[in-house]
Amino acid sequence: FKNIKAGGDGAGVKVFDPGYVNTAACKSAISYIDGDKGILRYRGYPIEELAENSTYLESAYLLMYGSLPSKTQLHQWERAVMQHSALPQSVIDAVNSLPHDAHPMGVLLTGINALSLQHPEANPAISGQNVYNGRDKNEVRDKQIVRIIGKMSAIAALAYHRATGRTMPSPNVSLGYAENFLYMLDAHSGNVNYRPHPKLARALDIMFILHADHEMNCSTAAMRHLASSGVDVYTCVAGAVGALYGPLHGGANEAVLRMLMRIGSVDEVPRFLEGVKARREKLFGFGHRVYKNFDPRATIIRRVAEEVFQIVGRDPLIDVAKALQDAALSDDYFIKRKLYPNVDFYSGLVYRSMGFPPEYFTVLFAIPRAAGYLAHWRESLDDEDSRIVRPQQVYTGEWLRRYEAMDGRP
Ligand code: ACO
Repeated sequence: FKNIKAGGDGAGVKVFDPGYVNTAACKSAISYIDGDKGILRYRGYPIEELAENSTYLESAYLLMYGSLPSKTQLHQWERAVMQHSALPQSVIDAVNSLPHDAHPMGVLLTGINALSLQHPEANPAISGQNVYNGRDKNEVRDKQIVRIIGKMSAIAALAYHRATGRTMPSPNVSLGYAENFLYMLDAHSGNVNYRPHPKLARALDIMFILHADHEMNCSTAAMRHLASSGVDVYTCVAGAVGALYGPLHGGANEAVLRMLMRIGSVDEVPRFLEGVKARREKLFGFGHRVYKNFDPRATIIRRVAEEVFQIVGRDPLIDVAKALQDAALSDDYFIKRKLYPNVDFYSGLVYRSMGFPPEYFTVLFAIPRAAGYLAHWRESLDDEDSRIVRPQQVYTGEWLRRYEAMDGRP
């Protein structure tokens, strides 16, 4: 239907669908979820196979361009991304002007926004009608894509060092993506020969693969929503990362860890669950809009957690998490509502074991999700059906009132 106007002249129906539970806002060929069967695929490839065999950058290429790269394509892509992992001084200065105890997600948002001002050619409002200034549009878009993926990890590392007070080392572009990220966090005192533990770097790379895309989640929807206005891609990514920050979305990994710390011991699990059922508490890391069976990412993360524990030692909170999961999965309240562990239930334990503070966990989600945001941005730009997103509303306010002078108001 076109020109839908409830109660007006236009024909059609208006659907009231809070949270867009039943509304598809776009067509997409990037990732696929079957929430009942616990299936997640990137461009048709099962997430389990990618976690086993791929790397984050290879999976990001797959999401972006639709097929696995050839050896040469992968090499060129990795090179391009890694060469963009240095930051302009203006971004460093913007971040350094923030309080040292600012939340790392807020710092990340500032850094991404600052990038937008560094690259005004990306902003249609500045460049006028011809956004690409006569250059090939795909070339310009691809440049923005590698620039953002490259710089996400560097801005994230800068956000980390806002709290440590240390100067971030220059990136080591000869390393893998996750490896270089860990290098930027840990290679302090000018120790350029420092190398992160290869198994921990691989564990983080797997976590990045698992978080790279997840069809029309809240922040990806925000990305496409912003992109529909024609604003520059940096502002779109910043807006999407802002949505990810929320505790019901990407911020849940931090909330899970704080919840587990608060519960403290296996003995306290039953009492906590009673509080959840009485709606005094929320069981963070449980439930999902789409998965009504297990989240396949949670299963993989549980395995990654065990591998990380073999290197750094076992986190005692894993026992609290397992007791919580077992108790919830055999409790009618959770069974009836089809509530299962989601990606965030175990990820915080992996990150904590690797030495990250809880307030940093959502940043570790945002870094890889940039690939998904950008794949959706790229897809939306070439989508002939794409229009500015402008949902309908159901007006529930006063119908018509007359302005009352101040003296006449109660
Ligand atoms: N703890 C307790 N009860 C829950 C939970 C939970 N984590 N999740 C859902 N429920 C209950 C609701 O209270 C509701 O019960 P009711 O029907 O008796 O009122 C029922 O299950 C259905 O839940 P909704 O809130 O309608 O589900 P919705 O699809 O709107 O929300 C969401 C999904 C936001 C993920 C929700 O499950 C939640 O808040 N989970 C905890 C936060 C979390 O882990 N978020 C991360 C999700 S994954 C991601 O974004 C990366």
